[in-house]
Amino acid sequence: MRHLLDTDSLSREDAIRILDTAGQMAATQEREMRKLPTLRGRTVVNLFFEDSTRTRISFEAAAKRLSADVINFSAKGSSLSKGESLKDTALTLQAMGADAVVVRHWASGAAQRLAESGWMHGHVLNAGDGTHQHPTQALLDAFTMRRHLVGGGKDSGANGKALEGLTFAIVGDILHSRVAGSNIPLLRTLGANVVIVAPPTLLPYGMTDRSDIAVHYTLDEAIEAHDLDGIMMLRVQRERMTGGGSGFFPSPEEYTRLFGLDGERLRRLPDHAIVLHPGPMNRGLEISAEAADHPRSVIVEQVSNGVAVRMAALYLLLAGEEAAE
Ligand code: NCD
Repeated sequence: MRHLLDTDSLSREDAIRILDTAGQMAATQEREMRKLPTLRGRTVVNLFFEDSTRTRISFEAAAKRLSADVINFSAKGSSLSKGESLKDTALTLQAMGADAVVVRHWASGAAQRLAESGWMHGHVLNAGDGTHQHPTQALLDAFTMRRHLVGGGKDSGANGKALEGLTFAIVGDILHSRVAGSNIPLLRTLGANVVIVAPPTLLPYGMTDRSDIAVHYTLDEAIEAHDLDGIMMLRVQRERMTGGGSGFFPSPEEYTRLFGLDGERLRRLPDHAIVLHPGPMNRGLEISAEAADHPRSVIVEQVSNGVAVRMAALYLLLAGEEAAE
């Protein structure tokens, strides 16, 4: 693996290798001395053209715990806000000797462009490109699911295993969600069943034609029809809806009534089912405070697992290179 651009191109073997490595990384994070010398002398650049809290600090923490030097480069307060092109930025990063670039961009395909352009030689990790993909988010979600639902709830027991036969619902703004864009192919690769719940206006074209995905237009119907092992609530991405959200659904109240997860709906899920959300949450819109803070919610754990998964991705791309040489 040279880059991590999407989950479509991850084989089952690659995905399991990343999850297993993340398990080992997570174990090192429980020690008193959490820093590993693995990427000493390497430079990781965080290139963020779009706002981010958890993804950027998570990649930063991951790179630092592997002893890499980290340069944060965000659009606000840099020449990126003066309209410098992706090409000129890449040439600058190359000149600075970046070994890996973590890129978040508003344009779908930006990470791939950077990887394939020849403008720079470092490894590219996609941290979210437009409405397309966000592979490390899907990997941390799969890691969290595996930790709770496979191998007796232990990484050691889950090692080498996929998510065979488990069923997950992904609920909400599928159309604008790169999290869904990465989760759907990864879950299928790992052998899980995928249930999509969304208003028809927030479904990507062609989704209902897929024979391997069940689609429902209300959350109640999906809870009734499937034994869900987990439910992933997505943020309603108002910033990607032109006209401030009008047109995609009649009102926030109606959205919550048909698609929101609250305590009452949560209690109708199987007892072992977990609740995920990539954050940031719109509390009161797609998820109630009771559901978000419920003991079966793993939302905070997703954030800490994100560091372990990003350590694994950086390690496999950068240190794997040395082993291959
Ligand atoms: C997601 C993103 O930016 O795509 N958030 C994240 O990475 N934690 C989802 C979102 O913004 O809704």
